[in-house]
This record gives sequence, C-alpha cells and structure tokens, in this order.
Amino acid sequence: MGQWEEILRIKRYVWPLLGAAILAIASMAAPANVAAEELVKFKIVNGSSIPDSLTGKAGDPVKGRETAIHRKKGNCLACHTLPVSEQPYHGEVGPELNGVASRLSEGEIRLRIVNPKYSNPDTIMPAFYKTEGLHMVQKKWQGKPMLTAGEVEDIVAYLMTLKE
Ligand code: HEC
Repeated sequence: MGQWEEILRIKRYVWPLLGAAILAIASMAAPANVAAEELVKFKIVNGSSIPDSLTGKAGDPVKGRETAIHRKKGNCLACHTLPVSEQPYHGEVGPELNGVASRLSEGEIRLRIVNPKYSNPDTIMPAFYKTEGLHMVQKKWQGKPMLTAGEVEDIVAYLMTLKE
C-alpha cells in the first residue's frame, strides 16, 4: 500500500472524530439553558381536579402508554402496576392503575400527574408538571418539568382507557 493511500485511509477515521470533538467543545462553550420553561397556566377546581386539557387538545393514548412505561420519562411502573405485559417488574408502592378511570375523573387524573401534593401533601409520588421546589434535580433538568404539557395529556388519555 502506498504512503498516500495509507494517509487517506487514516483520514477517513480522523475527520469524523475531529468533527465530533469540535461539536463536543462547541456544546460545552454554549451557554447552559437554565431559563425556567414557561409552564402552561392551569386552573385547579375544588382543589382536586384540573378539568381542562393543558394543551387545549386531547392527548394521544398510544403515545401516553409509551411515555408512562418509559423508564426515563414517566417511569410510572416504578411505583404502579399497569396492564402492560411487555415490561416486567411493576411497582407496588402506589395503587394499581388498571381501572383508575372508573375511580377518578379525567380532571382528577390530570391533577394527580401534574402535582399529586394537592390531593395528598405527604405523597411520595413526584409532581410531573412543576418546576419549583423539586429536590436533587440534575443540572440539565433544572427549570424543566419532568413531562411536557403534551406528554401529561397523552398519559391522561392513556389512563382514561383503563376502565374496569
Ligand atoms: C415514586 C412513586 C410513584 C411514581 C414514580 C408514580 N406514582 Fe402515582 N402514586 C404513587 C402513590 C404512593 C400513590 C397513592 C396516592 C398518594 O400517595 O397520593 C399514587 C397515586 C396515583 C394516582 C391516583 C390513583 C388512585 O387510584 O387513586 C394516579 C392516577 C397516579 N398515581 C398516576 C401516576 C402516573 C401516571 C405516574 C407516571 C407518570 C405515576 N403515578 C408515578 C406513587 C408514584
């Protein structure tokens, strides 16, 4: 193999690596996005329910199921059992959510996800749509709710399919 061929062969590997390194440095230098995400305003009725959709639209129950069982997003399975057979190890700290739509209204379910402290100040369930007063939040998540308004609505739509 000629010398040039050898150099070109090496370059094939070097350029992508160099590109990745430049991108990594550039992203470190970019100012961290610490601005708190603007939460959608919502109205709590009787301290127990948010009757109106946070997005003004109905959520997508199929996406909601995905987000609810996603181990890094909703991670509801850490504490709740859901009728989801493809995932093992469902938690039992919270009530089983199968049949929740027969026990609670849509607005009550929405408030439980947004901030369950309204129904139980001592609950260990995290508030999924809140940016203040959260503890031990990694820097990249500071100022951001755990779920977006759209993701909350998708999960509400999914839970509303769980009737007994
Ligand atoms: C760290 C544990 C934990 C996680 C994670 C968690 N929950 Fe809960 N959840 C609870 C507990 C405990 C309760 C019981 C009521 C209370 O403590 O207020 C509860 C209650 C509920 C209720 C009311 C159920 C009923 O029958 O009254 C709903 C709805 C609910 N959770 C939905 C969710 C959803 C959706 C997720 C994921 C996005 C989730 N939870 C994640 C612990 C958790």
